[in-house]
Amino acid sequence: MFFDRPESGECAVLVHLNLSIETDREDPREFEELVLSAGGDPVAFVFGQRHAPHPHSFVGAGKLEEVAEQVRLHRAEVVLFNHTLSPGQQRNLEKALQCRVTDRIGLILDIFAQRARTHEGKLQVELAQLQHASTRLVHGWTHLERQKGGIGLRGPGETQLESDRRLIRARIKTVTGRLEKVEKQRELGRRSRRRAALPCLCLVGYTNAGKSTLFNALTASRVYVADQLFATLDPTLRHLDVANCGPVVLADTVGFIRHLPHKLVEAFRATLAETTNADLLLHVIDVASTERFEQIAQVEEVLTEIGAQHIPRLEVFNKLDLLAQSPRVDRDENGRPVRVWLSAQSGAGLELLPRVIAELLGSEMLQLQVRLTPAQGSLRAHLYQFGAVLQECHGDDGGSTLQLRLPRSAWRRLLASEGVTEEQLVGANQSYNVLNSHVVYADRQ
Ligand code: GTP
Repeated sequence: MFFDRPESGECAVLVHLNLSIETDREDPREFEELVLSAGGDPVAFVFGQRHAPHPHSFVGAGKLEEVAEQVRLHRAEVVLFNHTLSPGQQRNLEKALQCRVTDRIGLILDIFAQRARTHEGKLQVELAQLQHASTRLVHGWTHLERQKGGIGLRGPGETQLESDRRLIRARIKTVTGRLEKVEKQRELGRRSRRRAALPCLCLVGYTNAGKSTLFNALTASRVYVADQLFATLDPTLRHLDVANCGPVVLADTVGFIRHLPHKLVEAFRATLAETTNADLLLHVIDVASTERFEQIAQVEEVLTEIGAQHIPRLEVFNKLDLLAQSPRVDRDENGRPVRVWLSAQSGAGLELLPRVIAELLGSEMLQLQVRLTPAQGSLRAHLYQFGAVLQECHGDDGGSTLQLRLPRSAWRRLLASEGVTEEQLVGANQSYNVLNSHVVYADRQ
């Protein structure tokens, strides 16, 4: 009832105003792409200029007539606004235009609803939709109350609103409960991965940059790929074997977008949770896009917002085939790789990526010797599970001395999950040696 969304190919009239009071203007071209992604068929685009939105109809009387004209002319089924409308404006517009009106948040939610595939993704979309719908109903209710001057006249419309509100509240409670459960399970999965101490790589990037294509190319798996925005809504995880590095976890994430409304960022935070736990972010960029620098900045902004700004990253300039250039690796002044140019689709330069990943993760590799007591069997098991043990010598006391090689981040996570400190395991008679950016523990005696 509340979640009806446009069927594919719906005739849509698009509206975009340049408002002089707006500092962050939405891009009309991106808006059109969003509409296509939602399965809409844009039949007319109405542009306009105003200082500020009209409080009643957003566009003002003259422009409203122009929009109505287009709706009549094309027999449009929906009018889509590249702006956020107040519930009152949306209602007034629907009444005046005699057809459905959706704003930018509603449109993005609709795309999310169509793309969500896992249980958690679907629940998150439903919750965001319910919250969006509930503000609209609450406003509708106060609007009615005001009209009736607060006198207890219980018309059928009002009863309907009351039951709608009750239904929405109940559904929000159920969905929130389910979501909490799913999130708990996901956290357990994350913790067990942390215990297994596998390094995690996370693909991030602007929507349509080619993350899923790259994910498939690297893991030879099939994740849904489409030339549509937001083809990926849920993070997808796979194991990937990187030479000289061992197994790592590769996570695909939802595409980022400019000005993602805050309540949506909140709703999709969990799908980005893998990002904040990653050891390395692979920032995939559509190198052929004329707006690539702006898109890079937008992704960086969201990464800062979710607290992932400190995680090391590698830029992957994808779609190189469209520029007809050769694959290459760019390095900074210290020789550290910062950017790989490749084409996930044609496969050109794809072989560079695992090498660079190994180099970046490998530069954080530790070699060390630890002494474990018989009581530290669980740590020993995890070290073996991770493939970090190069050699083991058993002592007379039932303990053992292990030669290890593993990423620094994995070592830190293992120590934290076992509740032990480095000093307890390594002993006071050892120290760090830094050799060719590898850290080695060496006995002093
Ligand atoms: P979201 O799910 O929206 O975040 O998208 P995504 O970043 O996962 O992009 P996806 O892999 O779905 O690719 C988007 C479009 O770009 C698809 O049509 C791909 O076929 C195309 N594409 C991906 N990589 C390349 C490439 O190297 N070259 C060219 N020419 N097209 C590519």
